[in-house]
Amino acid sequence: MYICVCKAVSDRAVRQAAHSGATSLADLRERLELGTCCGKCACAARELLAEVRTGASAPGEGRA
Ligand code: FES
Repeated sequence: MYICVCKAVSDRAVRQAAHSGATSLADLRERLELGTCCGKCACAARELLAEVRTGASAPGEGRA
């Protein structure tokens, strides 16, 4: 699923960035260009980052 439609950044890419050390929206902007166009993805991206950092998973998402 795309988190950032403008820059075609998927939730998987955000998760990978988080696992590689991204801890903020600024980090995601720098690494993936997420949020650099309309900015509507910022809220969802922050939530996903927090989810990854706390180890939570989205409903219906399997964990390895
Ligand atoms: Fe991410 Fe527009 S949806 S910048």
